Amino acid sequence: MATRSCLCVFLLLLAFQSTVLKATTNLPSPLCRPVLASTKENFQFALNLHIYKAELFLRSTVGRGINDISPGLVEGPAPIGATLANLDNHTKKIVEESGLASIGHIRAIVDMLFLKSPVRVAQLDVRPEVYAKYFDVINATLKPPFNIYANTNSFLFAAVYASYFLKQFYAGILPSIVGNPERELAVGIALYEAASYGVIRSLLNDRANLTVPPYTSTVGNVTSLTAQIGNQLGRCGVKDEGLVVPLPLGAENRTTSNVIAADVNSLTYTRSALEILRILFISGNATRPGGVFPRGFEGTLYHRILALKQN
Ligand SMILES: *[C@@H]1O[C@H](CO)[C@@H](O)[C@H](O)[C@H]1NC(C)=O
Ligand SMILES: *[C@@H]1O[C@H](CO)[C@@H](O)[C@H](O)[C@H]1NC(C)=O
Ligand SMILES: *[C@@H]1O[C@H](CO)[C@@H](O)[C@H](O)[C@H]1NC(C)=O
Ligand SMILES: *[C@@H]1O[C@H](CO)[C@@H](O)[C@H](O)[C@H]1NC(C)=O
Ligand SMILES: *[C@@H]1O[C@H](CO)[C@@H](O)[C@H](O)[C@H]1NC(C)=O
Ligand SMILES: *[C@@H]1O[C@H](CO)[C@@H](O)[C@H](O)[C@H]1NC(C)=O
Repeated sequence: MATRSCLCVFLLLLAFQSTVLKATTNLPSPLCRPVLASTKENFQFALNLHIYKAELFLRSTVGRGINDISPGLVEGPAPIGATLANLDNHTKKIVEESGLASIGHIRAIVDMLFLKSPVRVAQLDVRPEVYAKYFDVINATLKPPFNIYANTNSFLFAAVYASYFLKQFYAGILPSIVGNPERELAVGIALYEAASYGVIRSLLNDRANLTVPPYTSTVGNVTSLTAQIGNQLGRCGVKDEGLVVPLPLGAENRTTSNVIAADVNSLTYTRSALEILRILFISGNATRPGGVFPRGFEGTLYHRILALKQN
């Protein structure tokens, strides 16, 4: 009953929102409008992203998961295919630190929302072949298939997106967060993730002219590909860019260097829950799970997206 009346309120809100939007010029397409959700729902949605980042970063650097480090914080199926990555020591330290930080972020959200812990985790699938599928999206299938765990240059591509999606999601929801403590938490997490993204993009940038073994493509080449793949799956225009860009995409149209991807005024590109699901699922469809989330997300926002068939 509660669920049904809740849904009705949302449908009304959606109807209201579309009336308002019709009256304005420069309408975002329905695919790209902000997703209506409460503060609690947005944090719950973000928990999936934090848990993914923590599990990927920790299992690939120290071979331990969230529950090995903070017992009782989460419960549910172990990630499929987690394994140690072949990383240089410098990168390994940075990735481990950022993975540990994600545990703090999860705990802070659980405490803020008075969520019952352990928190239920979504099934994750972090096998190399899952990441390799991204390249099929633009028919750039690599031979042998891309293996994120094979070396530092390969792993950094998976790592940068774990931070980038969090940064983009928080940038999108910050204006609608209700409550001072909730806003402080969101800002504290968002700024951390922006830094984490910057550090990893900087590691990638230092390697821009080096190849991604065993291929002849450079790190710079592959960042252009992954940006193109994400933009295509997200279906809302350019929200990611390579490390070397044409002048019109560089800051102030005066540089081709592009360590931080950002818009025409160098502001962060935001991505909604729908855009992030489309990309993480590798289906370009927010209601067709796949990729590293083969059974979808946990939480009411995701389940409403399914119920409302918001592709
Ligand atoms: C990396 O760290 C390990 C363990 O701390 C150490 O045994 C190894 O010598 C280090 N490798 C390099 C290249 O510094
Ligand atoms: C990839 O190849 C398929 C089948 O040949 C084609 O339908 C699709 O348009 C291609 N996609 C791109 C992005 O080139
Ligand atoms: C990569 O090569 C280009 C062209 O030679 C050069 O301008 C750029 O500085 C190099 N980048 C790095 C990070 O070495
Ligand atoms: C790959 O990067 C090099 C410079 O690093 C550039 O000259 C070349 O055009 C790039 N190739 C593609 C296919 O983007
Ligand atoms: C940069 O170029 C874009 C179009 O490519 C334009 O919209 C923008 O105003 C330019 N920015 C500056 C600072 O000239
Ligand atoms: C998205 O996926 C759902 C569930 O598989 C499917 O019913 C729907 O038709 C898909 N939408 C598009 C646009 O492909």
